[in-house]
Amino acid sequence: MWLLALTAVKVLNPILPSSTAPDTEPQIAKRCSPSPFQPSFFRRLRYYRPLPTSRMSPFILPSDNPRIKRVHSFDELVTTRFAAGVNALCWQRELPDGFGEVVTTLGADEGITSLDEPILQALVVGATGRAAVAVLIADLRLLRDRGLSPVLDCILGYPRDDEPGPVPTDVYSFHADSATVEADTYLCTYYGATSEGLRNEEAQQRVTIPSTRVELLTQFGGADNGEFQEYLKENCYDLHYAALPAARPFEFGVGNLWRIAIDYPGSPVPPCIHRAPENIPGQPPRLLLIS
Ligand SMILES: [Fe+2]
Repeated sequence: MWLLALTAVKVLNPILPSSTAPDTEPQIAKRCSPSPFQPSFFRRLRYYRPLPTSRMSPFILPSDNPRIKRVHSFDELVTTRFAAGVNALCWQRELPDGFGEVVTTLGADEGITSLDEPILQALVVGATGRAAVAVLIADLRLLRDRGLSPVLDCILGYPRDDEPGPVPTDVYSFHADSATVEADTYLCTYYGATSEGLRNEEAQQRVTIPSTRVELLTQFGGADNGEFQEYLKENCYDLHYAALPAARPFEFGVGNLWRIAIDYPGSPVPPCIHRAPENIPGQPPRLLLIS
């Protein structure tokens, strides 16, 4: 049954203005953003198996992670400076039901579908779905009003590396976001599997793993010098991390709005290492806001 004709357009992961200077910050491109999928203009209603109850259990912030700070309002989220090692701020929220209805009604069946306000307002949903739509629109406006460029995506899968190399560089790999000037990343998962974080102390930059570095040097075909460093940077190899054997990755949880530190020159804290969860066939897509 054809349900909707959506003018879904995928945009590249956002350009990141600084939360500290929203009116003046130049627009900068994030390194290593996933490339877009081709949009589908007609979406078919699809039914997904319900999410496992484990994904619906109450979210608990890791209490033993001093790099995470809990905040209690949007204003506190955007105005708190990263300092003293804290590189992730979490505004923990209990949102209404209805995001599953939004996802089902969209009927996306592949890749990434970006949603804007007109698309959201055109969805034919019940009362619970409308409550979810109201939250989505309110969050988009909150971020836009701060000079940010939020993108709301329904995600069945991100692009993966074309060929496996010494260092994975897609968003399923633990990585740091990066920019050339001060910036940060906001994200919220409303539905589906949530983003995952990795403590900096439990991560190793992949380019520092001896066997990986040898492979990269072979691929580069030169010496371990400044040119090689530039090569690592150009290919985003320097942004990816391996979890140490005893690492304890943590979930960002559903409904919580996070602001995480990224890698930029002069950052006072190390970047927050994170990744997208695997998209499991048959499971519902994710509904993710990112800016
Ligand atoms: Fe990222």
